[in-house]
Formats: sequence, structure tokens, C-alpha cells
Amino acid sequence: MPVPAPNLYPDFNTIRLSHVCLNVKDLAASKAFYTEILGLQITDEDDSCIYLRAMEERGHHCVILQQSDKPGTVEVMGFKTFDDDDLDRAEAYFQQKGRPTAWVQRAYQGRTLLTSDNMGIPLEFYHQMDRLPPIHQQYALYRGVKPLRIDHFNCFSHDVDASVAFYSDFGFRVTEYTEDEDSKKLWAAWMHRKGGVHDMAFTNGIGPRMHHVAFWVPTPLNIIDLLDLMATTGHVSNIERGPGRHGISNAFFLYILDPDGHRIEIYCSDYQTVDPDLEPIKWDLKDPQRQTLWGAPAPKSWFEHGTKFVGVETKNSGLGASPIIAP
Ligand SMILES: [Fe+2]
Repeated sequence: MPVPAPNLYPDFNTIRLSHVCLNVKDLAASKAFYTEILGLQITDEDDSCIYLRAMEERGHHCVILQQSDKPGTVEVMGFKTFDDDDLDRAEAYFQQKGRPTAWVQRAYQGRTLLTSDNMGIPLEFYHQMDRLPPIHQQYALYRGVKPLRIDHFNCFSHDVDASVAFYSDFGFRVTEYTEDEDSKKLWAAWMHRKGGVHDMAFTNGIGPRMHHVAFWVPTPLNIIDLLDLMATTGHVSNIERGPGRHGISNAFFLYILDPDGHRIEIYCSDYQTVDPDLEPIKWDLKDPQRQTLWGAPAPKSWFEHGTKFVGVETKNSGLGASPIIAP
């Protein structure tokens, strides 16, 4: 199916992705990984949850690590709206789409609407989150990969065309996409609200599952430093793919796995997409430079491993087309 035309006047205004809540087995092990390796800053913690933010974020949290009897699952993905009234419009919108809606209590957040997308991915929308003092110039605090901010989510979808149509309807705009030349179906798509290449991307596969959550770093050298750190602190098996430069998005990247198997991307240097009439870039699934500009294919695990959303059943994709996979 062709990429849908952007909806420039959606029913409610989402400004960006905001945070993710990850269910983990061992809170202490996850804390060590997310603070000492990734370098996120703790903003609160208790026996069941750890709240974290990246260095330039003023909001209270971009990651919540939650002790769980279902470790290795994702609890919810969070998005911020432009104002508080957008939340009421979002409630009406998702109800009209037949999705469940509920107002939920979330620590450090104002009114929060819990709903789900057409595949069942749990989504929450809020406008107000507690503000914290800026720390981006407190250089003594910088550790690990020196993450500046959360950048995007990427999820497996068993029907990428349907996922793209759903998010397009509430204002997400496609920046780049991969089409299967034979079926003309979408194999992957990158969609944004904030003016980068994406806030949310979808990849063909058993879905819905989280493929990864990404954090922005200032330079590729931060990624090289992280590799040296991981390779000498017992984390070499957590390194999955990269470093490299994507064809799609032009970003410099590295993929790693956290202690529960949640995939994390370290990401920098994509491009600006704020023009409302920016044309999406099309890629062929069989183009080796699509995945990696330098031609190296991704490993099999990258196309198969993902983490489930808690309590959400998955389905196989009807699209059997395969990208180039490393031997
Ligand atoms: Fe990504």
C-alpha cells in the first residue's frame, strides 16, 4: 500500500515520545547497567521502581525500571501532548477507534490517559510531568555513553501498513520507509512528531513487540567509548550490532541488550524533518545500504529478537519477504 498522506491537523496534538516502562528481573542489576553503562541519572527509586532521565531532559523520567514477575516485557510507552486539553481529545479519539481508555495514576505525571494502538501496544499520553533543574552543564555527572535524551521507539508489527495507517491518522508523519517490491507492502516505516526522523518506527515481524528504545548521544565517539567500556566490564555479550551508520536516517548507531534482553540503540546525527511537506524517502528491502550505509548486513537476531508488551498476544506477520541477513 502507498504511504498515507500526512494528517497535518490531527484530532489531538502529540509533541514527542517521552518515556518507557520496562519490566525487569533484578532491579539492582538493571540499575547498574542503566546508570554505569548507559549513564542515565536516577531521579527517584524505591524497592519496586527506578526512575531515570538523560542529561538534557528536564522532565522527571524517560525510563522507568520496574521490578516484575514478568521480566523482559514492556509495560507501556509514553508520549507527551501539547496541552492538557489534548488528553480529552485523545480519549475521544481512541474511544472512537474502539480502543480501551482509562485515566491512570502515574507518579510525577499529571493526568495520564492509558490506551493502546491497533495492535495492542500499551500507550500512555500525558501533558504535565514534574520538572527538574537542568543538569546538562553539570559535566561531572556525565557517565557511560553520556546520553542526552530519549530519541525513539521501534516496534515489530505483524502488519506495518496497518500500524502506519493508525499512527498517521493521529498525526505521525512518515520520513522514510521500506517497501517489498513484490507485494508492494510496507516492510518498515519511520514516523515522527518532534521533527527528527522518528518518534516511532515499525519493522515487519512477530508483533507487536518492542524492537528497541533509542537514546541520543552527542557524537560517534561516545559510542566508541561505550564499546570500550562494555568490552572491559564484562558486557561484551550485550553488544549485538554495530557500530555503523544507517542508510535509513543517516544515523550513527550501536545496538546493545540490557540484562533482561530489552534492546537499546545508541543513536546520533539524524536530520531535521519539520517541514510539513517533506517527502518520505523510499528504500528497497534488498538494498544492502538500507540497513548499513557501509554495506554490512545485520545479524539474524536483529530481525528476530524483541521484547513483548506485558499481557499482549503476538501474531506472525503475513509478509514473508526477507531483508539481507548476515551469515
Ligand atoms: Fe532505531
